[in-house]
Amino acid sequence: MSVRIAVTVNSKSYHETVDDRYTLADFLRERLRLTGTHLGCEHGVCGACTVIVDGASVRSCLMLAAQADGASVETVESLAAGGDLNPVQRAFKENHALQCGFCTSGFLMSVTAALREGPVRSADEAREVLSGNICRCTGYRGMVQAVLDVSS
Ligand code: FES
Ligand code: FES
Repeated sequence: MSVRIAVTVNSKSYHETVDDRYTLADFLRERLRLTGTHLGCEHGVCGACTVIVDGASVRSCLMLAAQADGASVETVESLAAGGDLNPVQRAFKENHALQCGFCTSGFLMSVTAALREGPVRSADEAREVLSGNICRCTGYRGMVQAVLDVSS
């Protein structure tokens, strides 16, 4: 069954007709061509597909596009302004917190959502912020330092 949705993505309004089984991740990637949101496991484990919906980090592989009707969605494409990396992205770069980068957009969105709730003051808190996302490359040390740097 098709449903009409009105959704704001990265401050732009969209009115679209979608299949009621279409995931938000597929909607963002295939319909809007916002391919910075990645798909790894597609069942809610890896966090690669993390976006921010109405202020909360969400795994977009587990949310239907139809459920985003009326919502405001932020993807990784919203972070850099005019091609300049934002502070979270810069901290990841400076701390070598990425290698292949497949997981990175999900981490950036999880960290962005967490930092809006307040600064991260310890390595343990940083690990907690990062704990919902999986990386196969980095060993996480750079990411922990990046989160601490951007919080300081
Ligand atoms: Fe969504 Fe892994 S692709 S959690
Ligand atoms: Fe390769 Fe995280 S940088 S999976």
